[in-house]
Amino acid sequence: MVLHDYLRRQYLAAMGIRAWERRTRHAAHPGPGALENCGFPPGGTVRAEDQRPSIQPAAGCGQPAVSGMDWGALEQAVSSCTKCRLHLERTRTVFGTGNRHARWVFIGEAPGSEEDRQGEPFVGRAGQLLNAMLFATGLAREEVYIANVLKCRPPNNRDPQPDEVQQCEPYLVRQIELVQPRMIVALGRHAAHSLLRTELALGKLRGQQLNYHDIPLVVTYHPAYLLRNPADKRKAWEDLRLARRLVEAAP
Ligand code: URA
Repeated sequence: MVLHDYLRRQYLAAMGIRAWERRTRHAAHPGPGALENCGFPPGGTVRAEDQRPSIQPAAGCGQPAVSGMDWGALEQAVSSCTKCRLHLERTRTVFGTGNRHARWVFIGEAPGSEEDRQGEPFVGRAGQLLNAMLFATGLAREEVYIANVLKCRPPNNRDPQPDEVQQCEPYLVRQIELVQPRMIVALGRHAAHSLLRTELALGKLRGQQLNYHDIPLVVTYHPAYLLRNPADKRKAWEDLRLARRLVEAAP
């Protein structure tokens, strides 16, 4: 087995997926019920056409100050931002990281304690799992762009408040505009709800192609959720495979 395959298997194992692709190739027909058991949406599930949320421009994205900024000005604006209460308790702002010409953008919720300390998204335990998910998808962390809905840590990792999301949103909107990715992966419900302007449950949003303006978007579980609910890692893996297929199929 070449080293890359070996590593990929290790990362899949970290995601709770044990070389299942190869096993199914040799296995007998999985039999009725197998797909339900592994969490695939059953046939007849309402599909994207029926569920696709209408995407409105994000509130505040027309603010001239942010919408015209280049990377340097944007990063500076975030690091000095005092638009919401979160600036009072932050150690550092967490702008975003990775390739600014990436084909893939991954959007999380908000910095946790380690991110607040280091100033970089997804560097704690959830970040390790995200790295594993990226690797299993054939992506290196350095080749994608990673950012959060909120740039400052909410105290005690509480959920982002609507006014915080609204104040911070123009920064994310501009980051996406500047990167111009081919695929956005929304990690968890906060990213999905903010980007898609919907309150649909994550289970109704994942597993299908949605769009953020004209950019294909796939919703999947947040890595922190997957750490608490490893049984759903398989579904996350399916979402990432779908996203990869969509990127590969794009002209
Ligand atoms: N969770 C997130 O949503 N973002 C991070 O950067 C870290 C944890």
